[in-house]
Amino acid sequence: MQELSRLAVLGAGHVGPVIARLAVKAGYPVAIATSGDPEDIALITELVIPGAQPRWAADAVADADIVVLAMPLHRFVDVDPALLGGKLVVDAMNYWPASDGRLEAFEDGGSSEIVARRLSGSTVVKALNHIGYHELEDRARPAGAPDRRAAGVAGDDPAAVAAIAGLADRIGYDPVRLGSLRAGRVLQPGGPVFGVGLTRPEFERAVREDAGSLR
Ligand SMILES: NC(=O)c1ccc[n+]([C@@H]2O[C@H](COP(=O)([O-])OP(=O)(O)OC[C@H]3O[C@@H](n4cnc5c(N)ncnc54)[C@H](OP(=O)(O)O)[C@@H]3O)[C@@H](O)[C@H]2O)c1
Repeated sequence: MQELSRLAVLGAGHVGPVIARLAVKAGYPVAIATSGDPEDIALITELVIPGAQPRWAADAVADADIVVLAMPLHRFVDVDPALLGGKLVVDAMNYWPASDGRLEAFEDGGSSEIVARRLSGSTVVKALNHIGYHELEDRARPAGAPDRRAAGVAGDDPAAVAAIAGLADRIGYDPVRLGSLRAGRVLQPGGPVFGVGLTRPEFERAVREDAGSLR
């Protein structure tokens, strides 16, 4: 059997545990971390994400092939980019001024492009940010299910996008690849697919129509 990538999920709030749980279910080795002591999340991890390993963030990242950023953006700005150097990083974060406060650097444009500039030693793919955590869990379906939803995967590195498309597929979504982080702006708040559960054809249509309206 093909060995799956090792995942480190950074963030154990709302969306981090759901991503971790779906990934464990799909067969991935998963570590989960906060900014603090893994002991603090040991019990909750055992209860709500059985099979995942609570670890110090640095240890989880060091052993991971894929790192999922599932912390609020206003906390990410304090993360040392060196921690994530050389890693394939999934940016599942959104700029949400109501909870992040105003972050000047993120006021205009694509948040993942700014994240990627900050993480210049990593490969950043934007994914898993546009589906609410309840829906992410409830609407995951096996490949071929008629009501399977789409998940957008955007990045500048085609191999990285392909790897994360594989992850999205295994955890229950039809991946729709977007050829650049810039194109991934459709996935963020205010974009045409943010917060709406769409099948792949619906998703592709929404993205096409959005591109048309920008012309
Ligand atoms: N909620 C959703 O439905 C949803 C869906 C998709 C995407 N998103 C996006 O995902 C991000 C997180 O959302 P959320 O709702 O899950 O937030 P949240 O519930 O506030 O989660 C915060 C988690 O991040 C951890 N954290 C903070 N700094 C960290 C660090 N440096 N390293 C590791 N962990 C760290 C916190 O732990 P400590 O404070 O103990 O360190 C806590 O476990 C946001 O950008 C959001 O827009 C959310």
